[in-house]
Amino acid sequence: MDTEQIVRTFVEYYEDRGHRRITGSTLLPPPGDPVLFTTSGMHPLIPYLEGRPHPLGRRLVNVQRCLRTTDLEEVGDPTHLTVFEMLGTWSLGDYEGTLSLDWGYGLLTEGFGVDPGLLHATVFGGDELTGPDTASLELWQERGVPVELTVEDNWWPSGSPGPCGPDSEIFLWTGDGPPESTPTRDERWVEVWNHVMMRHRRLPDGSLVPLAQRNVDTGLGLERLASLLQGRTSVFECDVFEPWRRLVPKLWPVDEPSLRLVCDHLRSAVVVIGDGVRPAVGGRGYVLRRLVRRVLTVLWRDDPSRGLGPSRGLGDLPDELIRHTLDRFRQETDPGEVRRVLLDEERRFGRLLERGRRVLARPRFQGTLDEEDFRHLHDTHGLPRDLVLSLRSGG
Ligand code: ALA
Repeated sequence: MDTEQIVRTFVEYYEDRGHRRITGSTLLPPPGDPVLFTTSGMHPLIPYLEGRPHPLGRRLVNVQRCLRTTDLEEVGDPTHLTVFEMLGTWSLGDYEGTLSLDWGYGLLTEGFGVDPGLLHATVFGGDELTGPDTASLELWQERGVPVELTVEDNWWPSGSPGPCGPDSEIFLWTGDGPPESTPTRDERWVEVWNHVMMRHRRLPDGSLVPLAQRNVDTGLGLERLASLLQGRTSVFECDVFEPWRRLVPKLWPVDEPSLRLVCDHLRSAVVVIGDGVRPAVGGRGYVLRRLVRRVLTVLWRDDPSRGLGPSRGLGDLPDELIRHTLDRFRQETDPGEVRRVLLDEERRFGRLLERGRRVLARPRFQGTLDEEDFRHLHDTHGLPRDLVLSLRSGG
């Protein structure tokens, strides 16, 4: 099953159960929202989870593009992406979490053909504010799915103010032999689907109050699900990355973790530019800047021709990859404009590196740097701390 078929199967399954498809929106939350980017499918739905009637009713399904900077350092491992698509379903004060889990189980095992013996669930075990989620626990026991109880890992989102609740996560075994151990103890259990019983609001002081209605919010990462269903060991091997894997290694031969980072960050940068963001010193533009600069740091760090002749550059990025990404995310931006933004940022970064090397060669910066040095380098020369550190370590 390719990702298109997965999306179709998912949406139809929920439409058959009374859900209406809503259009996933841009990565940019509405003005006034303190969060820089949409991080999950529920994000644009917060007013409806809090009780405002949704024009399409109480059962919704969608595909939402998301960006998670919290995962930036994990990119390169087999399961994390910066920009990804999230399949999501919602019960806005309609059905309960147990029905949601039961449908999820049905879709995974019958719709997608997952062997039920390879599933494991986790369930909220209770803390000083909220009791254990016994309804979800019983549902899984009835289905014969093993359950692990946790506290922090089964509350979503953890800590921050706003709508929240206990969740039950479904994991799939990816090891070679028969399943063993549990999701918190063995990384071969990969999380595929989170069902949040969204019934509380966390106040800034950390306390909880009930929401006006009992909702269910579920989300599963499309690329992760696709790689698992396609029998791949990493998200970078599912069909959406096919053109990237075909073209990038020929262009820039780098090791596997670097290849993953380059593909993830460039694809994410294209989507972010496609949603109208431009590199800047703060906010969303800074996230974009970091993505592009991290790619360049990797490409230039290992560039065999650096200093000898033409070096690796984003000007060589094949058009096919830009177009494929914009199409996948249904974005209308001109691919030429995406390339122009990338090249502009590359030039800017190149100049900054040159200046940085010159400044750091001065006698004052030869020994250990203290806070005053870092402040001076930043305020007078525009050199951020991470860049200084990377230049000093030979970058
Ligand atoms: N909103 C939940 C998540 O992103 C489903 O995990």
